[in-house]
Amino acid sequence: MKIENKITEAVMQITEELYGQPVPEKMVQLQQTRPEFEGQITLVVFPFTKMSHKAPEQTAQEIGEALKEKLPEVVSKYNAVKGFLNLSISSEQWIDVLREIYENPRYGFTPVTEDSPLVMIEYSSPNTNKPLHLGHVRNNLLGWALAKVMEANGNRVVKTNIVNDRGIHICKSMLAWLKWGNGETPESSGKKGDHLIGDYYVAFDKHYREEVRELVAQGMDEEQAKQEAPLIKEAHEMLVRWEQNDPEVRSLWRKMNEWVYAGFDETYKALGVSFDKIYYESETYLEGKEKVEEGLEKGLFYRRDDGSVWADLTKEGLDEKLLLRSDGTSVYMTQDIGTAKLRFQDYPIDKMIYVVGNEQNYHFQVLSILLDKLGFKWGKDLVHFSYGMVELPNGKMKSREGTVVDADDLIQTMVADARQMSADKVNKLEGITDEEAQEIARIVGMGALKYFILKVDARKNMLFNPEESIDFNGNTGPFIQYTYARIRSILRKWEEASPVPSQGGGNGKAANLLPLGGGREGASLAEREISLIQKLQDFQTTVRQAGQDYNPSCIANYCYELASEYNRFYHDFSVLREEDARKRQFRIALSAAVGQVIKNGMGLLGIEVPERM
Ligand code: ARG
Repeated sequence: MKIENKITEAVMQITEELYGQPVPEKMVQLQQTRPEFEGQITLVVFPFTKMSHKAPEQTAQEIGEALKEKLPEVVSKYNAVKGFLNLSISSEQWIDVLREIYENPRYGFTPVTEDSPLVMIEYSSPNTNKPLHLGHVRNNLLGWALAKVMEANGNRVVKTNIVNDRGIHICKSMLAWLKWGNGETPESSGKKGDHLIGDYYVAFDKHYREEVRELVAQGMDEEQAKQEAPLIKEAHEMLVRWEQNDPEVRSLWRKMNEWVYAGFDETYKALGVSFDKIYYESETYLEGKEKVEEGLEKGLFYRRDDGSVWADLTKEGLDEKLLLRSDGTSVYMTQDIGTAKLRFQDYPIDKMIYVVGNEQNYHFQVLSILLDKLGFKWGKDLVHFSYGMVELPNGKMKSREGTVVDADDLIQTMVADARQMSADKVNKLEGITDEEAQEIARIVGMGALKYFILKVDARKNMLFNPEESIDFNGNTGPFIQYTYARIRSILRKWEEASPVPSQGGGNGKAANLLPLGGGREGASLAEREISLIQKLQDFQTTVRQAGQDYNPSCIANYCYELASEYNRFYHDFSVLREEDARKRQFRIALSAAVGQVIKNGMGLLGIEVPERM
């Protein structure tokens, strides 16, 4: 049983014995003792003074004495400060806590079964006319981490993506390629497919702007020129032909989208993210139209004289929302309704989470209401995981057009910087191959990028600073990774020196480390060792909290605190060089458990940890 539970149970009995009334469980408030006081667990006694009819401090004394008597193996000392009863818990108990964590490689995770709730998480959702950028990087990292966190909280998770593969923007790239591409392909040019298409999108825009400028010079007003420019007209014609299923347009569209997908896949792989099921707007938008017409028949929506279909949301405090244009074509919202329909057909969704930037807050507010009206049981409570902008300080990462930071460039730069960092290091790794060095650089560079982005509350806008992110000191991914590598190095050294053959278990040979049974009696741990065990124990509540609040950043900050706590411990105590064999064993086990929790915690963020660095 957990220490907290033992204490809670005892406090309920004690209050009944002393004051003739059992207190309800939720009145027994336990907290971590503040560092300026002695003890580790604090009972808040104020609520009991009503029944004790005594001063808070006196009540605390009384309960403390009774607790010590009732749980002599748990409570070794106590002190009362006003209404706070600070309890010192015996070392044996803490060793039991450590053992539980240490023997369970999945400590902190709730198991997933066939009956677990099914959570669908949508993230990434790019358009196929250009490569992924820094905004997508934040999106993808958040989506992946959120999926891991939900899974760790006992949910079945389906990771999904909705690719916007149709519409005027793709026609622009297609048209530009037809006009100026000379049949260029990713193979012939050596360009990644998404970059190739992106370049034609940019080319379209350049020529289009020139046309508009010319028309304006001839005296046309700007708005009209934007409509009348031959290029945009041609692109619109292409879109019409696409809608009519014109085989030529469709086959070009398929070919060019395939190039883009191959490019996206590379980026996703480098980011370490993946999807269980990908939806395409070209396949969902017609479904949306049907669903809207259904709603129209049921009187949920109304048709205007020009034939367009609208939802009146003024009762909900919103405005009127267009769902089908007068020519019958669908809009962004219609497509989202269609996607929802297909998803619900494919999966028995209990909860739907959309990871989409905060510029679409209103869209998802409306979508939630519409899906609810249309009878989707998860519609009303859909979660829009809304995140803020991320920018880079001006400098080397500015892209060609000067505004967007390309995801592939960013990844490359991070890994190259990490490689450079380790080359510049004073104590370089010995006997390491080029391949290994590159792999470590990949892990560290990506860890720096991911951690820096994920440690920030997702709702906030943020500035991503590559240099700061890769610093080995401070609240960074590499700092935590370095702590992990240090622990692994200790364990390797210990294993090499230890004659005991491996017996399997979650920590390999280390699984036999903790002296079981009789070994813990009479042990006496230092405060710093106990606080490290307490920190380890917190992993469970942190994972729960992250799941409840949809907040991966609390996992990140937890990992930092754990790594810092470990480093303080490591600074103050010897591990391998400890003379007392029992203490040494304990500290090695403690290190192994910290390593395991760091690895699992960082794993929830999609961050790998290196064996050496
Ligand atoms: N493709 C859209 C964009 O780039 C984002 C899609 C978000 N997801 C959704 N279900 N609407 O703005």
